[in-house]
Amino acid sequence: RFSCVEAAPPVEIFALSRSYKEDQFPQKVDLGIGAYRTNEGKPWVLPVVRKVEQQIATDVTLNHEYLSQLGYEEFSKSATKMLLGNDSPALTEGRGFGVQCLSGTGSLRVGAEFLINCAKFKTYYMSSPTWPNHRLVFKNAGFQDGKLYRYWDASNRKLDLDGMLEDLKNAPEDSVIILHACAHNPTGIDPTKDQWKQIADIMEQRKLFPFFDCAYQGFASGNLENDSWAVRYFVSRGFELLCAQSFAKNFGLYNERIGNLTLVFKDSSPVVNVRAQITLLVRGNYSNPPVHGARIVSKVLNDATLYEEWQGHIKEMSGRIKEMRQALRNKLEELGTPGTWEHITNQIGMFSYTGLNQPQVQYLVEKFHVYLPKSGRISICGLNTNNVEYVAKAFYEAVSN
Ligand code: LMR
Repeated sequence: RFSCVEAAPPVEIFALSRSYKEDQFPQKVDLGIGAYRTNEGKPWVLPVVRKVEQQIATDVTLNHEYLSQLGYEEFSKSATKMLLGNDSPALTEGRGFGVQCLSGTGSLRVGAEFLINCAKFKTYYMSSPTWPNHRLVFKNAGFQDGKLYRYWDASNRKLDLDGMLEDLKNAPEDSVIILHACAHNPTGIDPTKDQWKQIADIMEQRKLFPFFDCAYQGFASGNLENDSWAVRYFVSRGFELLCAQSFAKNFGLYNERIGNLTLVFKDSSPVVNVRAQITLLVRGNYSNPPVHGARIVSKVLNDATLYEEWQGHIKEMSGRIKEMRQALRNKLEELGTPGTWEHITNQIGMFSYTGLNQPQVQYLVEKFHVYLPKSGRISICGLNTNNVEYVAKAFYEAVSN
């Protein structure tokens, strides 16, 4: 009966992680999956998370009863506030709210299902390139093949603003446009404030619908406000929008699948129906979300001391990433590596789009055991003071080869 099941390709970034783990080479380096590592190359449970988990473990007032379909309200309210700002008019006017979902991916999926099934959107656009899972999430939600807007200018290693604006101008009305709120994955290049204004102008004229993917708030610059500037700006311009928030990176809660889908409307009139529809979407899918990550995040966001401690953690993580960007660039330049490397320090967030081509990537993996996906994206988190020189030399060899 099941001989009809076709083969399917592996999920590149997870397959890469597995190959890295199986590799016995002592100097192997993992620049693949976007997960924070300490300078010792180890995963980091944020101390504030550990502390709250200990409180939760001994709190006998807590139980394992079901959450509602829309999740833990204290969490979703706090997450939405963190994104939009405490005094956002969308919140004070009761026209913006959040739904707890399964990390950023699950928030994108619930949002996409809502847009196609309940709000009758038909077309969506994503940046070229984008996080590869956007396409799969939207396809599985029921959207036809996605369209692309230009984003990365490969020859100058910067944003192709003109291309992006032109493609948005030509998009049909009511297209959903996936935008990266900050720290664009995979390029690490964000529009400037002025460029965001130009993007918003076109989207307003063309009646395009923004769906932000916000996976790195606080993690990118160390400052929550900076990293949510674009979303807040679109709200201030009167856009209706969706935003998928992940707490994987900024809280280090990768496998807890904690996220929030924020929805903002022009007025509060659709809110009751939208909540009712999303309730059914979730009920027919996973019924209701898990509570552990939601408890941790909401405790931290609602306690001044814990919040302060967490601010220190996001500064530490983003600071180490910035140092490693600089260190890699310096080493590459010291070695006289062919090409220009300032893009490594111009980019922001977890990733750098190195500009290395596929044969060079393959050479790095096979010859140096430096693991990165075919796109040439590297996770800066995999660099540390012990391996950056080795990586720079490997890059030198790969581009000179
Ligand atoms: C990445 O892009 O490496 C991360 O966001 C992990 C993932 O799920 O792809």
